[in-house]
Amino acid sequence: MALSDFLAELDQLVAEAKSSFDQAVDVDGLEGSRVAFLGAKSGRLKAIQKGMSSVDGPDKPAAGKRLNEVKQFIQAAFEAAQRRLVSDSSTDSSFRGFDHSVPGHQPTLGHLHPITQTINELSDIMGRLGFTLADGPEVEDEWHNFEALNISREHPARDPLDNFYISRGDRADERPTLLRSQTSTVQIRVMEQTPPPIRIISLGRVYRPDTADATHYPMFHQMEGLYVDRNVTMADLKSVLRMFATSYLGDEVSVRFRPSFFPFTEPSVEADYHWNGNWVEFGGAGMVDPNVLHAVGYDPEEVTGFAFGLGVERLCMRRHNITDIREFHKNDVRFLAQF
Ligand code: FA5
Repeated sequence: MALSDFLAELDQLVAEAKSSFDQAVDVDGLEGSRVAFLGAKSGRLKAIQKGMSSVDGPDKPAAGKRLNEVKQFIQAAFEAAQRRLVSDSSTDSSFRGFDHSVPGHQPTLGHLHPITQTINELSDIMGRLGFTLADGPEVEDEWHNFEALNISREHPARDPLDNFYISRGDRADERPTLLRSQTSTVQIRVMEQTPPPIRIISLGRVYRPDTADATHYPMFHQMEGLYVDRNVTMADLKSVLRMFATSYLGDEVSVRFRPSFFPFTEPSVEADYHWNGNWVEFGGAGMVDPNVLHAVGYDPEEVTGFAFGLGVERLCMRRHNITDIREFHKNDVRFLAQF
């Protein structure tokens, strides 16, 4: 085929394609034109491309160059027609294509997990009582999880069966580490780094190999509180815990304090709330033991303090009438969507 005939065919194709795209009044029509001219299998451009093999050998480069230009031109004409139809659609009610004015679907937004919501709320309440947030690692060493908290080497709380040890410290250059079993570790970290007075809370995950049941889970959250200053007393501890409980659970909640024991507080109490005819323990507390104050370099003759550690899941359960802690971990949207 002579080059001039091939180029004439291409010119003819450009004119027809452009007029076909320009005449399209809706997306279906435009799509039909696109398939007719640009279709990969039987489009007209494809057919002309096949005819290029019959162009005389020396003319092939010029024919190929023009073919590419035509391809780009037709593609651009198609896209221009597409844009025209989309912009027409907002004014032309007969257009069946994309309509900017149709209200979109409101996407269903998720929301925060009830435990995250509880954590946020607890930290707001304690913030209003003057406590600032502190943080510590979940993988701890024995000093912060036990020793500095006056939990001696022989104490049963250190038993490997009662803790998730990560490394046993068998090698000379290795310290034993474990997933922290309580947020009281953060008390030590804060006191080691900051001179008194201190008024902090810490909210985070703790881990214990407890069998899961309605009120226990092997991973749960605690809110630790620590207040150290001159003349801090047990009366301050009780009033802060009562104020906190009524702020979060409502004025009608009954809270009681039972004498208890923790190696790091003296005296110690356990705090219970009343619920469905039972007393449920939601935290432990007490006056910081002088040995702990010593361990972090404070002078127990100068300052005293109180500390508490509350179960976040248990508080959330009482607030929302959730009777089984395992619900928090099932990821059942029917449960989660209620909060
Ligand atoms: C402690 O962990 C102490 N560190 C609390 C403390 C801090 C005392 C500061 C004194 C001073 P206890 O082991 O009792 O204490 O745990 C505190 C709270 O965590 C419990 O009252 C309970 O509400 C919650 N809790 C304990 N074990 C679980 C569990 N397996 N699942 C869910 N919540 C738990």
